[in-house]
Amino acid sequence: MSNAHGMDTDCMTLTRFLISEQRKCEHATGALTILLNQLMTAVKAIASAVKRAGIANLYGIAGTANTSGDEQKKLDVLANDLFVNMLRSSGQAALLVSEEDEGVIEVEVANQGKYIVTFDPLDGSSNIDCLVSIGSIFGIYEKKSEGAPSDADALRPGHELVASGYALYGAGCMVVLTTGCGVNGFTLDPNLGDFVLTHPTMTIKERGKIYSINEGYALYWDEGMTKYIKSLKFPEDSKKAPYSARYIGSMVADVHRTILYGGIFLYPSNSKSPNGKLRLLYEGNPMAFIVEQAGGAASTGTGRILDVVPQKIHERVPVILGSKQDVADCLAALGQ
Ligand code: AHM
Ligand code: MG
Repeated sequence: MSNAHGMDTDCMTLTRFLISEQRKCEHATGALTILLNQLMTAVKAIASAVKRAGIANLYGIAGTANTSGDEQKKLDVLANDLFVNMLRSSGQAALLVSEEDEGVIEVEVANQGKYIVTFDPLDGSSNIDCLVSIGSIFGIYEKKSEGAPSDADALRPGHELVASGYALYGAGCMVVLTTGCGVNGFTLDPNLGDFVLTHPTMTIKERGKIYSINEGYALYWDEGMTKYIKSLKFPEDSKKAPYSARYIGSMVADVHRTILYGGIFLYPSNSKSPNGKLRLLYEGNPMAFIVEQAGGAASTGTGRILDVVPQKIHERVPVILGSKQDVADCLAALGQ
């Protein structure tokens, strides 16, 4: 609904969306809405820092001091501080697991809530300094145990997630979110300073035309993976066109494109890295939940990512996700 000034006076902001979702659920208390709102504050601050990084001396190595004597922080340290501080102060989280911290972070008792949040505050670090898209990824579980939170509260299979999402810092800033009832995408409106629903009910095509894998590791692939990638480049059926290759090297950007355009994203197991590179708790699981909720598939190569029971908070998981038929073709080539 626009008024005479061409302004939308009834836009669906992320907060409004969360409130309306919460009202549909009889038992909802608003705790998740508060938690997600705090997360969005971190995301907005990161988006602003990413944009200003070049002129604000945020690139490069942490540990130096600026002219006011304040410590200057690398973007990923800054992003982690923002996530931790916003979640801690939300009053809704009990335990945090960050890619940046070796151990779990227990929220002080006075501020504890019922959620466990796993996150990679700034994913795709190698792309930061050359201005290529980067992102944040998060997963949210409800704490089930009684008493003080511990590692065990975070070592849960992805099918127990209550929500997950990612923020993409690209040409614009987008947040893509699922609470288990489909996937919705919100774009940051810089004039409003808020996220607006721009991609309702996101779904992945059954089959795409793009594959996304680091081909530099082809030497280490097993026979099945080599056969599968070859079949995309040299289709047996001469009437079929070969797939296009796209690989940004930022999981958020590569997965976002896969959701929007279809196709397959892979960071599989190989002889050098038997479990791939990506981390289960804050990369594999949150993305697998979103992709499945969008109608796609997410596999380790031998089973569903969301069914893996984690043993360690930073463990790695092979990732093959995207359009259902593309993932099925890959698994068939792997002998599954
Ligand atoms: P990071 O968490 O250190 O940034 O690494 C994760 C990133 C992912 O975003 C991306 O999919 C992958 O590393 C790329 O790795 P590679 O350079 O081995 O292809
Ligand atoms: Mg990462």
